[in-house]
Amino acid sequence: MPQLAYVDGRMVPLRNAMIHVEDRGLQFADSLYEVCAIMNGRLLDWPGHLARLRRGLAALFIDFPMSDAALGIVARRLVAVNGHSDGLLYLQLTRGSARRDHGFPAAPSPSLIMTVRRFDFAQRVRQQATGVSVVTVNDMRWRRVDLKTTGLLANVLAKQDARAAGAFEAWLVAEDGTLREGSSTNAWIVKDGRLLTHPLSESILPGIARSALIDLARGAKIPVDERPFSLAEALAADEALLTSTTAPLLPVVRIDGQAIGTGTPGPIAARLAPLVWGEIERQTGWRA
Ligand code: PDD
Repeated sequence: MPQLAYVDGRMVPLRNAMIHVEDRGLQFADSLYEVCAIMNGRLLDWPGHLARLRRGLAALFIDFPMSDAALGIVARRLVAVNGHSDGLLYLQLTRGSARRDHGFPAAPSPSLIMTVRRFDFAQRVRQQATGVSVVTVNDMRWRRVDLKTTGLLANVLAKQDARAAGAFEAWLVAEDGTLREGSSTNAWIVKDGRLLTHPLSESILPGIARSALIDLARGAKIPVDERPFSLAEALAADEALLTSTTAPLLPVVRIDGQAIGTGTPGPIAARLAPLVWGEIERQTGWRA
């Protein structure tokens, strides 16, 4: 069965799915996106993704006429027709196409595209046993990275640096030494039994998995501090972790080649992992 994509109201074979050459998403990254996990054929944390998208649309003054209910119906139909039990839904909403001009078009007609692909979440469960390594790079991004725009070139280059170094992720460090987040994940450390992550601000993405982990940790009486921390603190931490839609919880055991704590996944990660997968199972019925 050919894979199908959704493009502005139509389900089309992925290989024929096209957008206009003057789409503003292509020309200016004038667009927002979401990546949502499909587990056991169901969308994980869909309301959170939708709320983040709506917030971004308002901040960018993109007036998108489709209702939340209609968006949900289309997303679920695309998931169903593609038939993947475990996968990722990609959704991108652009200001639409118009003759190239930086200012907004007079009568914008936003474009919505969605694709689905298979994704192996069970590999993340296996990776929990060993943990992953990260490298650090300068955060070169613009000042509104809380908006999930497709302007991801700095993230792309950071991830490529990580790949070249044989690492799973690149952690982005601000000029003042503050560790912000990963190129496509949120960053965490553990010190003296407390979980630390950068507070919500214009300089990190408000991750859906981040918010889920905060709730789960607090529910389990693990204290969480949302405060900035430095790379030096991370290197001296007892444990480190990362979270995202594509990696709901992964221990980080090396930063720039230096072992964190014992250099193996630690006890807080071990306590959090069953909570994270348990919540996923509660929402979707998914089991490793
Ligand atoms: N990335 N920080 C950045 C910069 C991200 O791009 C992402 C998500 C996250 C984690 O957010 P969430 O928990 O909502 O997935 C944090 C997606 C998965 C991507 O670009 O593929």
